[in-house]
Amino acid sequence: MNSLLNMAELSVAKSTKNYSLLHQEISALIEGENNMFANIGNILAAIKFRMNWFWVGLYKVEKEELVLFMFQGPHACTRIKKGKGVCGTAWQENRAIIVEDVEKFDGHIACNSNSKSEIVIPIKDKNGAITYVLDIDSTELNTFTEIDAIELNKITAIIETLI
Ligand code: SME
Repeated sequence: MNSLLNMAELSVAKSTKNYSLLHQEISALIEGENNMFANIGNILAAIKFRMNWFWVGLYKVEKEELVLFMFQGPHACTRIKKGKGVCGTAWQENRAIIVEDVEKFDGHIACNSNSKSEIVIPIKDKNGAITYVLDIDSTELNTFTEIDAIELNKITAIIETLI
């Protein structure tokens, strides 16, 4: 893994969304390891610290609610009802949601007032049922675009194989 992370790459990564490096880092972190918690924890940590985002975590579908699962960042809301907030809406509507300004999203759940923009991507089982959502929060407005949705989808595709 160390060969992937020379100092030049690290300094570039601090100032840009370096998805190439993030994807390499995630592959290296999970290679040869089959412990689900270790792998998911490392993936979430890699996303958070590579991209310098505020909060990166998973909510798990349990009956009619999302329940806080593993995450990196400050403590967060434990339960979210289907259809509520950005996470519950992404689940109900079966789609990724990008929120440029959380104050403009009707029903946004403010677990932390530092969150200004957000992206939520559903994670499915092999039958296509949503089992988790990946939620990422930023302290900046307008952080996430379709490019992030595409790149993060590659990571949720890996997560789907691990949980
Ligand atoms: N803002 C989310 C709630 C989860 S926290 O941001 C971690 C929402 O509206 O669903």
